[in-house]
Amino acid sequence: MTNRPDLPAEIARRRTFAIISHPDAGKTTLTEKFLLFGGAIQMAGQVRAKGEARRTRSDFMQMEKDRGISVSASAMSFDYKHFRYNLVDTPGHSDFSEDTYRTLTAVDAAVMVIDGAKGVESQTQKLFEVCRLRDLPILTFCNKMDRESRDTFEIIDEIQENLAIDVTPASWPIGVGRDFIGCYDILRDRLDIMDRADRNTVAESIEINGLDDPKWEEHVSAPLLAQFREEIEMAKELLPKLDPKAVLEGTMTPIWFGSAVNSFGVRELMEGIANYGPEPQPQTAQPRTILPEEKKVAGFVFKVQANMDPKHRDRVAFVRMASGHFTRGQKLTHVRSKKQMTISNPVLFLASDRELAEEAWAGDIIGIPNHGQLRIGDTLTEGEALQVKGIPSFAPELLQGVRAGDPLKSKHLEKALMQFAEEGAAKVFKPSFGSGFIVGVVGPLQFEVLASRIELEYGLPVRFEQSQFTSARWVSGDKDAVDKFAAANKQHIGTDSDGDTVYLTRLQWDIDRVARDYPDVALTATKEMM
Ligand code: G4P
Repeated sequence: MTNRPDLPAEIARRRTFAIISHPDAGKTTLTEKFLLFGGAIQMAGQVRAKGEARRTRSDFMQMEKDRGISVSASAMSFDYKHFRYNLVDTPGHSDFSEDTYRTLTAVDAAVMVIDGAKGVESQTQKLFEVCRLRDLPILTFCNKMDRESRDTFEIIDEIQENLAIDVTPASWPIGVGRDFIGCYDILRDRLDIMDRADRNTVAESIEINGLDDPKWEEHVSAPLLAQFREEIEMAKELLPKLDPKAVLEGTMTPIWFGSAVNSFGVRELMEGIANYGPEPQPQTAQPRTILPEEKKVAGFVFKVQANMDPKHRDRVAFVRMASGHFTRGQKLTHVRSKKQMTISNPVLFLASDRELAEEAWAGDIIGIPNHGQLRIGDTLTEGEALQVKGIPSFAPELLQGVRAGDPLKSKHLEKALMQFAEEGAAKVFKPSFGSGFIVGVVGPLQFEVLASRIELEYGLPVRFEQSQFTSARWVSGDKDAVDKFAAANKQHIGTDSDGDTVYLTRLQWDIDRVARDYPDVALTATKEMM
């Protein structure tokens, strides 16, 4: 199903998406089943075994020891039927970070996983709101239906009300908890029965001819069937019908009910992503939008992961291909520096293995190993000066000073901090007075993670300590006005890792005062990466 017949078939069959969920809803399990059905892994359990679920600090650290693996989990490609799926991982730890936001700039759709007993939880809601900012189409999977779950109407109502989106059932569960036997596939008129005995067995799927088909009685007990029929009649009356256009516009979400751990409902969801999810979408850029079907290749960096191998200090830049057909060895222009780069060893992430990417089409995610040239927000093209827009950087909510345990190592510390800043793992500010750095993050866990990484990757023990500042704002405006402002407020001025001026303070009052006293300068809490 394509709305853009002009797309080359290779592009039209791509679906690039992320999974959004609250920890524990089943993202890892679902990912694993996608990979299993996509033939990318042989056995369920491989993804989890590699510690993809990095919920606690210890999980995170363990995983960081094997960063190659975390990289594989950052983007995964697999095929199912005629489609190529590119699944981009949203960071699993519960600190909401910019990384998460930027990941969502690289996808065309999101799968929202909710726990059937818990409904819409806080992290899901936050992530949903980020998706909404971009009008991303969302497909919903209500998981853990094999356990006691809430009433189906209640779940649907909660999504509609909390997230202000129309919900249309793609399937309907039959029975609850222990009595759950499977689902009616509304879109295909089939009865799918879950196999509780073997978790990796795919459900038995029975073709049905409408709700009055006598086959129902063969498979569903009379009381369950009576209840199901009543519910489905009500659903037909009360809930909107699937409108593929509304799904693509992000105003309606189809919901599938299933059990990831029992492999139930997963294939239907995959087919749903193929049939109702979008093909690679146009990419907003300056001075013009990039269309996926353009012959020339363009792509942008949405994530950088450094020090995968501490001995080599290499980095992988994750690039979302925005247009064209890329082939290995191609020369691309790095628009920011206007330099040419030969992309000779791009990698594609096929589940647990990294493989050389011989080619990539619009919609694909490739990793480009480099020595620091590629930064988040950078655009690569075949020569045209295009700059992808909409990749933001947020002012951090927490600031701390940082010191090397050994004062003689402060140069090393600076280098480490700059690398993390480029990777997007933290904001680093250099106050214009005194020495030292101020590090800003979004969630408190990130300070610990940084300290451990600096020690692990640079052999440098560091101490984070309270800073005299609690907020940072970027300063923008006419150069003279900014210079004048900076000269008059020296004690509050610093620069970020790109050399842009920031205003550091403890008080909202100060920020309000600047707005009043310096109408020619603006203090902002976000800036575009490029
Ligand atoms: P996350 O990545 O979203 O954090 O969730 P994850 O997949 O790790 O799943 C969280 C827990 O929920 C896991 O249990 C997992 O087995 C379980 N789970 C996932 N899908 C289903 C389902 O459909 N039904 C039921 N009943 N449970 C499900 P755990 O006890 O934390 O881990 P494990 O020891 O079972 O692996």
